[in-house]
Amino acid sequence: MNQREANTRLAFLRRAIDRHDRLYYVEARPEISDRAYDELYRELREIEAAFPDQVTPDSPTRRVAGQPLSSFASVRHLQPMMSLDNTYNLDELKEFDARVRKLLDGETPEYTLEPKIDGVSISVRYEHGHLAQGATRGDGVTGDDITANLKTIHAIPLKLSAAHPPALLEVRGEAFMMIAGFQALNEARRESGEEPFANPRNAAAGSLKQLDARVVAGRPLGALFYAVGAVEGLTFETQSGVLESFPGLGLPTHRWWWRCRDVEQVFQRIEELRTREHELPYEIDGAVVKVNRLDWWRRLGATAHAPRFAIAYKYSHEQASTVLRAITVQVGRTGTLTPVAELEPVLLAGSTISRATLHNEEEVRRKDIRVGDTVIIEKAGEVIPAVVGIVAEKRPSSTAPFDLHAHIGGCCPACGGPVARDPEFVAWRCENLGCPAQLKRRIQYFASRGAMDIEGLGESLADQLVERGLVHDVADLYALTAELLAGLERMGEKSAANVVAALAAHKTPELWRLLTGLGILHVGEGAARKLAAHFGSLDALAAATEAEFAETPDIGPTIACSLREFFDNPGNRAVLDKLRAHGVAPRAEAPARGGPLTGMTVVLTGTLTSLTRDAAKAALRQRGATVTDSVSRKTSLVIAGSDAGSKLEKARELGVKVLDEAGLNELLK
Ligand code: IVH
Repeated sequence: MNQREANTRLAFLRRAIDRHDRLYYVEARPEISDRAYDELYRELREIEAAFPDQVTPDSPTRRVAGQPLSSFASVRHLQPMMSLDNTYNLDELKEFDARVRKLLDGETPEYTLEPKIDGVSISVRYEHGHLAQGATRGDGVTGDDITANLKTIHAIPLKLSAAHPPALLEVRGEAFMMIAGFQALNEARRESGEEPFANPRNAAAGSLKQLDARVVAGRPLGALFYAVGAVEGLTFETQSGVLESFPGLGLPTHRWWWRCRDVEQVFQRIEELRTREHELPYEIDGAVVKVNRLDWWRRLGATAHAPRFAIAYKYSHEQASTVLRAITVQVGRTGTLTPVAELEPVLLAGSTISRATLHNEEEVRRKDIRVGDTVIIEKAGEVIPAVVGIVAEKRPSSTAPFDLHAHIGGCCPACGGPVARDPEFVAWRCENLGCPAQLKRRIQYFASRGAMDIEGLGESLADQLVERGLVHDVADLYALTAELLAGLERMGEKSAANVVAALAAHKTPELWRLLTGLGILHVGEGAARKLAAHFGSLDALAAATEAEFAETPDIGPTIACSLREFFDNPGNRAVLDKLRAHGVAPRAEAPARGGPLTGMTVVLTGTLTSLTRDAAKAALRQRGATVTDSVSRKTSLVIAGSDAGSKLEKARELGVKVLDEAGLNELLK
């Protein structure tokens, strides 16, 4: 291929890729398969590698480029990025409408109604049609320059598709994580022993905070736009005009939005959106009502913190309000410090709640939750209730913003050891490996169902064993006697004997169980199973080099390094020797080669009646299947019990084969 041919082909490939990005992200009607798209991309990369001086700055291959940053630069928004006032009921919405009409001297404005995306607010600036800068909202006046990170998001065009693009166009919108991508990401994190993200919003925020754009490129992020900031060379008269013009510019916008004649129509659309919420591939937390005419936006203006021309209507799930008495800080197995709300007990969805998770410091700050506040707690899909917001009017006079580091006096609340910040999670971590709180959770994890499966050894027993100094590492569990245990709280003679018997009965666990139970950083159940199948014995694992670990299928360099560090640590070696001395001798899992389901990836969802979910998983694995938690294109089969929800929907959407419980039993025969 000569230079001229290369140029022709390069131009063709870039146009084709831009077009398919637009069809996929903006118009939601892809014309080619992912595979065919990847082919185009690969060819472009190859030709660019052969003709490096022909690479253009907005070539699709430039989405991930440059070195990791040491910090983000600050940028001033050309126009401030405002936040919105919230309402939770239709009466407040009526009041909003009445206020608007009064300020407009009795005019009845038309409104738009849009979904309120639960993501991260972004602003993207196009100069003469080329993406010039991308920023976070920050304090509304200045934000972080996250251009490199936003460029990795394929939904955000590197150039506008207009023939005569405006000199300047600053567009505002939201970057978010798709629900399916979020589930897959968390599953992968769990498998590798990393902390899962609390929710898609958190995952999106954590991803955009990465200083290395290559990491961001691997995260399933999307984006859409709903407003214009500074603009030159183009005029917009209405919000509906803005939303209508975006697709033509190559900018993705809401899948649904409506023009409403009056507030009554707004109510109807809010209800419609609520019932169809689950059809959207991303999370929304309500709807946004905006006056349609933009000249009226200027007339209505803004208060100190929010515009008067728009308001957010938040959907409520099962909620209750109560007083936040205190915030305590829990220490996890790997040392992560999690703030927990200690509440005035309140009834929510049939149970009395006195504690709720606050996820992490950033969430507490973002919602400005303070001790003494009246808080709203909610039970969403998860079993653990969460604090979702506060009742601002009920805030007592002397409260202070939450500062985790100050709250714990700069040291681990359990052991007084040093703490350090984990940048991605905005989480603090206790750095003392001997921290008793970490040990408690490690003991509990060792005994848990997904690891050694020791019945009767749960949170409360693990706590007591560490507090009484009966256990200093997992090997000490095997020196426990029924007499020692019977002296503990909530431990009858019978249960004490049962725990000791359970420990003795599990001295020859499958290798992956012991390996998971050791709680090696980044080595969760998934990685442990693969390592066990590959190496066959604990001795072989302990003797393997980092390179040998890294050569194992699906084991990356992070896990390989962590394994080597673990086995090199004399303390860990001593624990392994002690386990051996107590007769703990794992057997390797017989690799399920040639099982009838080998090569199949199966997901279980809903409730099964004839067997437990764990039993079903074990039976499937025994026959060679890989069992995972979330549905993707790679899933071969979904087993749906009764009350199956989003996973079943996802399977149908992707055309994945679905079996009911009867079908499962048939399969297992
Ligand atoms: S309009 C002046 N529209 O919600 C108008 N915001 O609570 C400013 N958001 O910071 C925002 N979906 O990050 C608008 N359809 C939508 C939105 C939306 C989500 C976010 C946005 C904003 C926050 C305010």
